Amino acid sequence: MREIRDVNSILFVCLGNICRSPLAEGVFRHRLGQEAPERQMIIDSAGTGDWHVGEPPDQRMRNTSLENGVSIDNLRARQFSRADFDDYDLILAMDRNNLRDILSQSSKKSARQKVMLFRNWEPGQPDSLDVPDPYFGGQQGFDEVFDIVDRTVQRLVAELTGS
Ligand code: 4NP
Repeated sequence: MREIRDVNSILFVCLGNICRSPLAEGVFRHRLGQEAPERQMIIDSAGTGDWHVGEPPDQRMRNTSLENGVSIDNLRARQFSRADFDDYDLILAMDRNNLRDILSQSSKKSARQKVMLFRNWEPGQPDSLDVPDPYFGGQQGFDEVFDIVDRTVQRLVAELTGS
């Protein structure tokens, strides 16, 4: 990766692209718009799996996000592809399985250098490197994902905008 302030395109990647990564995309777009409305960036999310391609985010994630002031209703799932290595400056994996699955798709150093764990940007001492997958759990898991994503995105936006 080049200097973080030179990053102009960012891709968030999870497994299904219906819970964690669309939330990160929506919250990132929302906070960047608040903090630096003049900063033009390409922002997207994708899943390593293809089960939910074309679907909106999970209803539980949409509700949790909206309760916190961010609508992600218009997003639609798509699958990560190798072309994303060329199209994005920074590719953030939501957990270590996602990181491994992304890295398995390219042996090029220039591509692999763009990929890192989302929670590397979390302030303080994260209790885990993974954003936990909320899909098979209850509401508490969705609330926890929102909190992790929000505080990590705040730091990421601050680094990107130099604020
Ligand atoms: P996500 O959550 O990776 O945060 O979008 C999941 C969504 C769907 C499945 C697993 C995780 N699934 O097994 O269908």
